[in-house]
Amino acid sequence: MSQPRESLHGQWSSKLAFIMAASGAAVGLGNIWKFPYIAGKNGGGAFVLVYLVCVLLLGIPIMMGEILIGRRGRRNPAQSMALLSEESGHSKKWQWLGTLAILSGFLILSYYSVIAGWAIDYVFHAAKGAFLAKNAAQIDSLFSQMIANPWTLLTYHTLVMLATTVVVAKGVESGLEKAVYVMFPTMLLLILILVGYAIDTGYFAHGLKFLFHPNFSVLTPKAVLMALGHAFFTLSIATGTMMIYGAYVPRHISIVSVSLYIAIVDTLIALLAGLAIFPLVFAHGLEPAAGPGLIFKTLPLAFGAMHFGRVFATLFFLMLVFAAFTSAISLLEPSVAWLMETYHVKRARAAWVCGIAVWLVGLGTVFSFNTAKNWTVFGKTFFTGLDYVTANIFLPLSGLAIAIFCGWLMKKEFLLAELGCDDGLMFACWRITLKIIAPVAVGAVFLYSLGILG
Ligand code: PHE
Repeated sequence: MSQPRESLHGQWSSKLAFIMAASGAAVGLGNIWKFPYIAGKNGGGAFVLVYLVCVLLLGIPIMMGEILIGRRGRRNPAQSMALLSEESGHSKKWQWLGTLAILSGFLILSYYSVIAGWAIDYVFHAAKGAFLAKNAAQIDSLFSQMIANPWTLLTYHTLVMLATTVVVAKGVESGLEKAVYVMFPTMLLLILILVGYAIDTGYFAHGLKFLFHPNFSVLTPKAVLMALGHAFFTLSIATGTMMIYGAYVPRHISIVSVSLYIAIVDTLIALLAGLAIFPLVFAHGLEPAAGPGLIFKTLPLAFGAMHFGRVFATLFFLMLVFAAFTSAISLLEPSVAWLMETYHVKRARAAWVCGIAVWLVGLGTVFSFNTAKNWTVFGKTFFTGLDYVTANIFLPLSGLAIAIFCGWLMKKEFLLAELGCDDGLMFACWRITLKIIAPVAVGAVFLYSLGILG
């Protein structure tokens, strides 16, 4: 290829805009809802250490690869993989792996939107003071009542999908970029305020110790693999998100440096979320290993008993909504770009078609908590099944594909040109990681999740 391709859908206006958009995509329910509870369930420190190693050794190199494919291809993930594969003398069929990534993002969004809806419901509960002076059973029933009511879940799921579609319909600069410019710094500020509060509880040292003091005797092989899987999910790797966001990155921006920034921001926010949450958990004698209900069931109890609890609770759930929203738009964009390019549809129409389609699939998750909770296949409801298939099968498979694609298929000269670096030691380390280390490690997660190693 003689001329570099141009992006079809506009570009980020600056390096900062891209870093914020991609960090907004990375930071989400995974950091604030999932990371604390899986760290809590797996004993804290040692798990956190493994997760950090996974982000550093596998997450960052694969993210670089994904952004690189996007920027060089400048098309939707399927088309970019087809173009780059042809360019390096291989089959166009690799585009199916791009399609799988797009499909994963689409399916993840269908349930992500429902869970983001829980956070909206909790903003209202918090603002009304519903957590004040409540005991554990009452807080528990608040959560059960919410998920048992299909209308509540449907209303918020609709609201999240409407807002997501409206923003994506506006396009890269006036939609995605503007939304994250407002939401991302607000979210950061809110989380810092909450960490400030956590310091004030007098239990901050307990939180620090729990997160950073590794006790390897509680670390199981399963926890190691969970940490690896979470590193993927939290960095938004393998769903087409980083590829499509990469497609809008101007040429002069260094892929290496932005990938580092994104990973650092994402990791810091996960750790800050842990530091905001665990001191509260310990200060109120709650259980760190409470599981997925950790923030929805136990934190309201802590908020209900603290000074200015109503304000802090409202801020906390608002922050969760913002974090989830900037991820939701990034999950819709790959499908929208694919539809625009494949069927020559205008952005607004493509956004509404995809938004409505995701909303429809999301109904399965809405009803899987109530009306259809007994409809199971292999013991899984619609929601748990979808979560299982996307997180444990689609993501590892797409991640593996990206590593192999960059490591083995793409010609070295193209990789070097896109990274803008020399053929030195750092490049060799990156390539070996993608060629050997990542496929072996990610393959292990995949086999494990299929139960072969489990
Ligand atoms: N990284 C997001 C989170 O941690 C989830 C996500 C996955 C967003 C994949 C986009 C793509 O919540």
